[in-house]
Amino acid sequence: MDQHIAEAIGRPDLIRLDDRLVCLRFETMKVVSALAAVRHLLDTGVVRPGDTLLDSSSGIYAYALALACHRHGMRCHIVGSTTVDRTLCAQLAVFGATLERMEPCDDLKLDQKRRVERIHEILAEHPEYHWMRQYHDDIHYLGYRAVAERIRPAVGGGGLTLVGGVGSGASTGALARYLREDRADVELVGVQPFGSVTFGAGHVADPEIIIAGIGSSIPFGNVSHASYDTLHWISFDAALSGSVDLLRRHAVFAGLSTGAGYLAARWERARAPERTVLFIAADTGHRYVDSVYARHHEAAPVDSLIPRQVTNRAELALPWSRMDWNRALGEVPPYA
Ligand SMILES: Cc1ncc(COP(=O)(O)O)c(C=O)c1O
Repeated sequence: MDQHIAEAIGRPDLIRLDDRLVCLRFETMKVVSALAAVRHLLDTGVVRPGDTLLDSSSGIYAYALALACHRHGMRCHIVGSTTVDRTLCAQLAVFGATLERMEPCDDLKLDQKRRVERIHEILAEHPEYHWMRQYHDDIHYLGYRAVAERIRPAVGGGGLTLVGGVGSGASTGALARYLREDRADVELVGVQPFGSVTFGAGHVADPEIIIAGIGSSIPFGNVSHASYDTLHWISFDAALSGSVDLLRRHAVFAGLSTGAGYLAARWERARAPERTVLFIAADTGHRYVDSVYARHHEAAPVDSLIPRQVTNRAELALPWSRMDWNRALGEVPPYA
């Protein structure tokens, strides 16, 4: 029996959608990561019960950290963006986690920069707070080891292709690292929105809104570029089509990054007849009812969508591009 709700929420389901397509479905993905990260900080004496943990989040990490703090008797302070919705705000308030919402800002780069600046101001006032640095501190990898251990026996032997959206890079990076420890044939496919600098697509803008949680306008230390075999850049519209098809065909109600991952996973499945393809569903569809599911009539048939295969980033184009990354090192991030 679980000893806290966070353990139940953090544990993913493995759902076989067909003979070679598997969905790793989380209610809220980062709970498993935040729980293990906080546990590690306590075990190593970096923080003590009752201390305040601080971070910035545009969504699911705020909830994950608040749950982990509740579980371990810590205080929690979040600098959030306006994408933190009412449901989450209300829960955080009841938990006693404090949330600062930054003023609305259309420019993602400015939004991220302002949140980091605010963190530094808070740390100057409260040097005793611990900044979690979910985008840079690889303690956020630890919790995914247990997930990799569940995947291993469930998918059997043979080649495995893992597909997931890359935000901080912790979930895809960690699962690939742990699965590769005793299984050589694990390919990693990262999914990005256009406009993200993480794999060098900052020059291609998506006129629709960005896909929450994936991509970035600043480099992140937790992205292990050399782990990725393949990259897909997927537009909002194509991701919407993927999300709607996933619900219609398989009854999985998930978010937009999942729709993008599902699209990429279907493509990879079709071109590698021997492999099992597992894609990550990071959150449920509830936050996307208005922006995605109410627009289901706009969804293009997924079989009509084909990625443009590119060999360098200058060729990237909407709505969908695919590139062999071949475990290249990528840019060394100049983060602080
Ligand atoms: C909805 C959603 N999908 C995918 C991701 C990517 O996860 P990671 O930060 O582990 O790369 C995030 C991260 O915030 C997210 O919120």
